[in-house]
Amino acid sequence: MKILVLGSGGREHAIAWTLARSPRTDALFVAPGNGGTDGIALASGGASQNASLDPMDAQAVLAFAQDAGIDLVVIGAEAPLVEGVADVLREAGLKVYGPNAAEAQLEGSKDHAKRFMDDNEIPTAAYATFTDAEGALAYVREQGAPIVIKADGLAAGKGVVVAETLKDAEEAVCACFDGAFGDAGAKVVIEECMRGPECSMLSFVTGGKSFPMAPSQDHKRAFDGDMGPNTGGMGVYSPVPIVTDDEMARMEAIMAQAAAAVPDYRGTLYGGFMLTPEGPKIVEFNVRFGDPETQVVLPRLESDLVDVMEAVADGRAADVSMQWSDAWAVCVVLASEGYPGAYEKGRVILGVDDAEAMPGITVFHAGTARNEDGELVTAGGRVLNVVAMADTFEDARDRAYEACDVIQFEGKQLRRDIGLKALIGRSSWE
Ligand code: AMP
Ligand code: GLY
Repeated sequence: MKILVLGSGGREHAIAWTLARSPRTDALFVAPGNGGTDGIALASGGASQNASLDPMDAQAVLAFAQDAGIDLVVIGAEAPLVEGVADVLREAGLKVYGPNAAEAQLEGSKDHAKRFMDDNEIPTAAYATFTDAEGALAYVREQGAPIVIKADGLAAGKGVVVAETLKDAEEAVCACFDGAFGDAGAKVVIEECMRGPECSMLSFVTGGKSFPMAPSQDHKRAFDGDMGPNTGGMGVYSPVPIVTDDEMARMEAIMAQAAAAVPDYRGTLYGGFMLTPEGPKIVEFNVRFGDPETQVVLPRLESDLVDVMEAVADGRAADVSMQWSDAWAVCVVLASEGYPGAYEKGRVILGVDDAEAMPGITVFHAGTARNEDGELVTAGGRVLNVVAMADTFEDARDRAYEACDVIQFEGKQLRRDIGLKALIGRSSWE
């Protein structure tokens, strides 16, 4: 099989790395890829290659795929899915992993997602949608704080404000309607503020059926103790020991309900849950793998990912089957100083090979590139994902941090408390 993965993050490195382990993968391209996705050894011999392509440019992707004789295209990020890149490729007869634009609206419009949940009786926060500041402000004042303000459209993870005070809520509403998020903020969804630990459940969805992957827990805030601004995710672990069997069953049932309502969906559906006192509720759906969740979930998959993705892309639900390892996986993100705000690029990174030589360690690249001298340098906000696998949670966590200390670049920023709450237990959220 010749496979093309679209994207350039740690998620796409983890997807490519897992696909490379399959004896069925004869050729593997990552477009545009990063400093780690070029040269991944394939189990079948040979190595992966980066291809210089913009995932948003459907015609360029199509021309490349046809030229290279690609058998399966895996779309990593939400923006090309919402834009309809999967539709264009499918119409041309290619096999695609990732939903069409219509289904991608589950992530592309928060208002659409909320209506979908209401129509399908999926538990979520109460909400109201507004297209004018006056109505939104009146609603916020009537409801009071805490309250959550969300730009309707895609805002690269920055369009959500959990407002603890009425003043913050009013400011967030005004910022949205003043164009802080461009067209994405022309509509604003205002939600009840839910409380509880968060848990991500990614699921392979095809033929109206859901095949849940192992649960994971992201750490979205920039600094220790869940302080500082929201980021794309600073660390994650899997499985999630604080989730009860009852909560797990309810999350799986919710994902099955959602899958049944989108019979044409072929890809990963990501349920972002909050484990509230009334049971798990959906915070948001995403229409792709999570980043960094993928970095701890896919290394635990023992089945052949090519078989799974091909069955999903073909709509053959009966052929999707998966085995998971019992290992624990912990991922710590190494970010550039200043992230999620402005940061410098081009800082030389040392020690990645030494870290990877440590037992149970895999390093997935995100914002990395090679400079003219062939040195690995920083090229983004989130730079590297250090993933440790071990038989116990404590060992996985210790190993991850030992490996993080071996990797050096100027301004390296990381959280030191990834997974700490899971060790302390449920009481730490209450
Ligand atoms: P999102 O971009 O929708 O994932 O939201 C970012 C983060 O905001 C989530 O991971 C939650 O931590 C928080 N959040 C979003 N919606 C709510 C809500 N209704 N109640 C409490 N927190 C929320
Ligand atoms: N880690 C959160 C996301 O992928 O949306």
